[in-house]
Amino acid sequence: MEIIIKPTAAEAQEGAAKILRRQIQRKPESVLGLATGSTPIGVYAALARMHQQDGLDFSRVVTFNLDEYVGLAPDHPCSYREFMRQHLFGKVNLAPENIHFPNGLAADLPAHCAEYETAIVRAGGIDLQLLGIGREGHIGFNEPSSSLASRTRLKTLTPQTVKDNAKYFGSPEQVPRHVITMGVGTIMDSAQCLMLATGEGKAEVVSRMIEGPVTADLPASILQMHPVCKIVLDEAAAAKLKRAEYYRWVYDNKPEWQRI
Ligand code: PGA
Repeated sequence: MEIIIKPTAAEAQEGAAKILRRQIQRKPESVLGLATGSTPIGVYAALARMHQQDGLDFSRVVTFNLDEYVGLAPDHPCSYREFMRQHLFGKVNLAPENIHFPNGLAADLPAHCAEYETAIVRAGGIDLQLLGIGREGHIGFNEPSSSLASRTRLKTLTPQTVKDNAKYFGSPEQVPRHVITMGVGTIMDSAQCLMLATGEGKAEVVSRMIEGPVTADLPASILQMHPVCKIVLDEAAAAKLKRAEYYRWVYDNKPEWQRI
């Protein structure tokens, strides 16, 4: 894992956006895995700015989002599809046919999940997967005890995730209990992973993910096994890392072209 610690959340978000920009510039037909939640909002704002001001071209980019709530229509104000429309899809020149999303209204959910996996493979696999982390260590909605080999499927949210996401719905009772999520195995098949975590609320889980054992009890810990994984943090999220000084030293001594 490559651990990059930036002074502020804004700088961490900008850094993650630069990694995505570099990927798109190097391979204009990149397949990107995208994440939702409060953490990547600044990343999408930076990408929208890079498109609007500097002409970053998304016309050949293909996207697959990690997850969606079961039971919400794509235009529901709290759906992740709508989140992505507001923060990215409505602001850049992605071709609508290149955008892929789990369908929370699919009649046959297992068949739909299998089709989503097939669509990723047909697109050539994910080149770069953007990730956030839940307070209990989920990536996508792979909550604790998720198989580390899991594929896209239906999952039930933990009480903590329901609580964390209640702010978008008004109350915990309104948060759907079920989601479709790419599996841990699906995420691990991506050529590169890019995890962004900011804020003191993530410090504990980040330290367990990076410096604790690999365990299904904290699904994000599997990223220790990913061959190309960057983890971008702000100081607050890095506060509980035992080896923070070492990670900073490594980053500061990298060749210029490897830095962001
Ligand atoms: P957050 O969610 O960015 O809203 O903290 C992250 C996640 O659940 O992956």
